[in-house]
Amino acid sequence: MDQHNATLASGLVSSTYIQQGADALCTRRKLIKTLLSQRSLPKHGWDEDTVELFIKDAAYMDSNNFLNSVGVGEREARVASRLVAKRHFGLAHGIGRSGDVAAEQPKAAGSSLLAKMTNILVQDALKVAGMLDVGAVTVLPLATGMALTLTLLALKAKRPQARYVLWPRIDQKTCLKAIVSANLEAVPVPCLLEGDELRTDMPLLRSEIERLSPDKIVCIVTTTSCFAPRGADSLVEVAKLCRESGIGHIVNNAYGVQSAALCSLVTSAWRKGRVDAVVQSTDKNFMVPVGGAVVAAGIQDTSLVNAVNKAYPGRASMTPLLDVLITLLQWGVSGWRNVLEQREAVYRYAHVQLEAFAATINERVLTTPNNPISIGLTLANLRQVGPLSVPADQTDRNSQDSSNLQRGTSSTPASQSSRPTHVATVTEHSSAPLSCEAAELVGTSARDLSKGYEAGARNRAWLGIASEGMVPTVMGTPVTT
Ligand SMILES: Cc1ncc(COP(=O)(O)O)c(C=O)c1O
Repeated sequence: MDQHNATLASGLVSSTYIQQGADALCTRRKLIKTLLSQRSLPKHGWDEDTVELFIKDAAYMDSNNFLNSVGVGEREARVASRLVAKRHFGLAHGIGRSGDVAAEQPKAAGSSLLAKMTNILVQDALKVAGMLDVGAVTVLPLATGMALTLTLLALKAKRPQARYVLWPRIDQKTCLKAIVSANLEAVPVPCLLEGDELRTDMPLLRSEIERLSPDKIVCIVTTTSCFAPRGADSLVEVAKLCRESGIGHIVNNAYGVQSAALCSLVTSAWRKGRVDAVVQSTDKNFMVPVGGAVVAAGIQDTSLVNAVNKAYPGRASMTPLLDVLITLLQWGVSGWRNVLEQREAVYRYAHVQLEAFAATINERVLTTPNNPISIGLTLANLRQVGPLSVPADQTDRNSQDSSNLQRGTSSTPASQSSRPTHVATVTEHSSAPLSCEAAELVGTSARDLSKGYEAGARNRAWLGIASEGMVPTVMGTPVTT
């Protein structure tokens, strides 16, 4: 009810009461007005009802929700189930047009507005997290791997003669498949073992560029968020190398937004060198259901983000964007900061507790200063005394522990529990040959891919723990000791 209607209503109910009610309505409307005029993340999170009011208002602006109007011959935005319509607040037109996913959808002013607002708020959220000079942001209804593929395709279209992607190796299959699915040839560049940590081998990257010739290389795909003992790639050095050699640079920042250190690394990279796009997951960073990714670029060059929008074929679902929009409106700047602080605190806590725990079993936490998300632990003294399987009840207890942690009700995180080391996990990633499946994808033998790791990594095993999102996740299969 607007002020005009409130005045009319005061003819029915005493005007003092109506005015009180109208003031209450006005408080909510003011929040929406501030959002639309300032176009930035609200300082403080909104309550659920105001978020719903805003979204419903927008939905009523889409043609499928017009009163007294039936789209004859319409084949779009017809929703058979009321439950489905409710689940989507009546938003059914999706976003974009066939030529550009960021374009306005003529039949859906409300959806178009919400999509634009999502991109604006995400850009702000990246800034709050420490990623500065962000020039363009697009939230895609694709998870990280598919968003990487689309970004690679958009970059490849700008460099039609090129087909190689140099890829400082990370043992995560999606990253590799993202390259292969773009019909490009991945050239894995093994990392260097520096102390405990696996780092980008810059001399090898340089020699690979020379060997393959810069004009045949689409880009280098670097990674920030990864499992210890691999550290974040040397983004600034790679960005400078890409600028020097005239080749593209895409950063896989899948779950790096909640790390101030990784956000500042991205900022330095695009300030000092070439970064075409940085891709991050919406679920891993903004804690929404899987299904979205953010493709961002620095103010220095936003052309690839625009090209990605144009490369997207057809319209797109707005559901993953809506999830992010709702979450950011409910957090506001203060809530988002709180999440970021908690993630850092959980990491520090896990580090201290793991160090203490490691000392009790004559092991140690690996020194991986370039990995602010995941922690590695030596398992030099681990002896297998039984089959590598876990009794069913123990698996249950483990998952119980982690779900308690997630709800914040557990006083003792899994790693602190008095039970034996049922969370110990032998992870071979980064030191071991790439899995046979992954090796098949790049058409190289697993043995070749492991070159460079074996010397330093032989006979070592690690426990990997990642503080992804707000909650530490224990990786891999539990083993009994
Ligand atoms: C470094 C890295 N890149 C990409 C992905 C794939 O993300 P998505 O499942 O969102 O495609 C992951 C998943 O954990 C990851 O760790």
